[in-house]
Amino acid sequence: MRIFLDTANIDEIREAARWGILSGVTTNPTLVGKTSGKSHERVIQEIAEIVDGPISAETVSLDTAGMVEEGRRFAAWHPNVVVKVPSTPNGWAAVKQLKQDGIRTNVTLCFSANQALFAALAGAYIISPFVGRLDDISEDGMQVVRDTVEIYRKHGLTTLVLAASIRHPLHIIDAAKAGADIATVPFKVLEQAAKHPLTDKGIEAFLADWRKFQEQ
Ligand code: E4P
Repeated sequence: MRIFLDTANIDEIREAARWGILSGVTTNPTLVGKTSGKSHERVIQEIAEIVDGPISAETVSLDTAGMVEEGRRFAAWHPNVVVKVPSTPNGWAAVKQLKQDGIRTNVTLCFSANQALFAALAGAYIISPFVGRLDDISEDGMQVVRDTVEIYRKHGLTTLVLAASIRHPLHIIDAAKAGADIATVPFKVLEQAAKHPLTDKGIEAFLADWRKFQEQ
């Protein structure tokens, strides 16, 4: 399973890229809105300079023609741009049209395996089931990831399953166990997942022993 960063914050992206584990980035209007002052295009191009992998940029139109127009514009910004459209009939129609232009799509705001099936049938490159937002309403968000993986494998559908709305480190492990192709992770969760107190304690003890050995 590949790790994407779920942010538009350049410092966070630079740091995660430095770790050598980053394969792509997802953004959405909320995340881009936090990068005050920069244009959408500038944000995406700055990310593309750091990460050599898919970078999702989200459309805001509600109709298919608007999504397609935005998608074509975003795709011209950089070859790694993947156009995000919502899990709606208009979104699936946009996926089909953009695919005919050779433009890759990420179908977002997916909350059911049926929506995931329809996105794949329309020709989506990525489907994004939202785990945390389902957990928030007392549903098992990861079950949508499990069901989607099972359905895609059973029917030979090649759309990549991206576990989105990840809220804590166990979500990353569960997404990997469910067979997700990608998990997109907020930087804070990535940091939480990277740390283990026994690693820090072990480093400290080894260094102390090494210093004693040098003094002998
Ligand atoms: C990513 O593509 C999604 O926009 C993101 O994971 C949503 O996460 P949230 O539910 O924490 O806002």
